[in-house]
Amino acid sequence: MPDTEQTKIRERLLAETLQGEVPTHVAIIMDGNGRWAEARGLPRWEGHREGAKAVREAVIACLELGVRHLTLYAFSNENWLRPSSEISALMDLLVEYANSEESELRERGVRVNVFGDLERLSPEAREAVKRLGAATGSGSVLSLNLALSYGSRSEIARAARRLVAAALAGRLKPEEVDAERFEQELYTAGSPDPDLLVRTSGEQRLSNFLLWQVAYAELLVTPVLWPDFDRAHFFEAILDYQRRERRYGRVEV
Ligand code: FPP
Repeated sequence: MPDTEQTKIRERLLAETLQGEVPTHVAIIMDGNGRWAEARGLPRWEGHREGAKAVREAVIACLELGVRHLTLYAFSNENWLRPSSEISALMDLLVEYANSEESELRERGVRVNVFGDLERLSPEAREAVKRLGAATGSGSVLSLNLALSYGSRSEIARAARRLVAAALAGRLKPEEVDAERFEQELYTAGSPDPDLLVRTSGEQRLSNFLLWQVAYAELLVTPVLWPDFDRAHFFEAILDYQRRERRYGRVEV
């Protein structure tokens, strides 16, 4: 399809999406990079490289729509079991992304937060994402949260450890621990829960991502592979979300 035609479709989808309620927080399991590359006879890292371009598209989509929080599953605890060549390609890509996007993210008011077991990242990747976080720290238009070396069960266990430590130190009584207090110990403390969780590439799993936080999120699985998930796909996902009825377990009276 010619570019001008694509732009027209995208702008129509954007205008249509802006007629409805835009979610505050979108979370995405970015899946399918490997399959995208394999289908083209390319090494898997080429899929991740193309996936980084799709990250850019998702950020622009959020800025155009006014989505305030975008949380991306960029590297899971389980991803450490991949071949070392793929892991180092992903670490390099993080460094490249942090360096190439920093000024634009800052100018557009995007604040980058990274969370997970960051000590396991390569020193270069760890430094690069920390620098990116510091450089964009004053952004107030969109929070871009990157889950890196992240697993939800470890996050929940870490929160429990922190509460136990506070109790043992005499700073917390067991009866003070409720859902709100527990949430304060998660990496995502202070952020609203995701309204919409998107998973690309057709897999219908949560894969240890934000298990606590997605309690009431709307789930959307799309067959589109992450590197192909462009702005138009993002707007379509939001339009799908806008057709849902969110009841949070209640009934209409
Ligand atoms: C899953 O696809 C994706 C990942 C493990 C990595 C996601 C990383 C990026 C999108 C690029 C870097 C991120 C940033 C923030 C710059 P997969 O490899 O599991 O795909 P497959 O299921 O088809 O094998």
